[in-house]
Amino acid sequence: MWAGAPAGETLQASPLWKLLHSFCMNGTHVHALRMVSRTGVSAPHGHSRMIVAVATHAESSPRVLAATAQFWSDMAVTRGGFAATGALLSALWEFVRDSTPERLRQRYGDADYDWDHHVNTTSAAVGWRDRLLGVFHSPYQPTEPTLFREMLDSLRDLARIRFEEFTFLDLGSGKGRTLLMASDYPFRRIVGVELLPALHTIAQENLQAYKSESQNCFALEAICADATEFPFPDEPLVIYLFNPFPEPGLRRVIAQLESSLRAAPRPLYVLYHNPILQYVLSDSPALEKIGGTHQYSIYRGV
Ligand SMILES: C[S@@+](CC[C@H](N)C(=O)[O-])C[C@H]1O[C@@H](n2cnc3c(N)ncnc32)[C@H](O)[C@@H]1O
Repeated sequence: MWAGAPAGETLQASPLWKLLHSFCMNGTHVHALRMVSRTGVSAPHGHSRMIVAVATHAESSPRVLAATAQFWSDMAVTRGGFAATGALLSALWEFVRDSTPERLRQRYGDADYDWDHHVNTTSAAVGWRDRLLGVFHSPYQPTEPTLFREMLDSLRDLARIRFEEFTFLDLGSGKGRTLLMASDYPFRRIVGVELLPALHTIAQENLQAYKSESQNCFALEAICADATEFPFPDEPLVIYLFNPFPEPGLRRVIAQLESSLRAAPRPLYVLYHNPILQYVLSDSPALEKIGGTHQYSIYRGV
């Protein structure tokens, strides 16, 4: 059962449905309304029991209310309305806690890289609106440099690949720190895809500002787009994921990866940092785990 729609009441008549619908119609362009069968609620289109998931299309900056509605409805589809409402309240509470001066000081703990390279990749310098959007999509946090090198060295040792033949693709690239770090390796090219325009703009500035004697790749590109809809380039890929999406988004991306591999078989690896949803990748017949630690997993396309 989901909050706001008792059994027997039509879904569209429920107050929560009206609220979510008005957020989305007034906010971002409504791309699709998915109907998912559940028990306990009568609903339109002849399905007796349904719940609604709202997928919005982010052409410009995502809107906070639409992101809130999307978060709730995605969660309600899998866990039900009461759990989704609980998760929403707890995410908002975490945002409030994260806004204290003490937490801000902690976030500056990731700024050493910026001092060394004269760039801005710290999670401390992110505006409240983008931090709030991060609660619903995935909060911005840059990858730690030592761990990044460990992951790439491990990939090279396990897969024995020549980086020169691969494109590095970071889905959810934030302020672009991984793009800069990846450029120490001789990748063919490096691409980052970031949803939030404010972070994307800073990534572009960082790409311009970055100077390093150890830089080996100079073909770097930052793209502002929803990475769950980004078409995979038809070339050998090292795909980097640092928890950019909640589970429904990650499932969409892996499904697209499977069809991309079917359409154009090619060498492909996935580096998954902090792999809290790794069962999604392990479920895929197109991916085989070849290594990792508790901090990351490495997959090969099969
Ligand atoms: C944990 S941060 C990782 C940043 C960067 N990859 C790194 O490792 O330094 C996740 C990033 O994914 C972005 N993100 C969330 N949902 C996204 C989406 N649908 N499309 C593109 N980026 C997204 C967030 O805005 C955030 O910047």
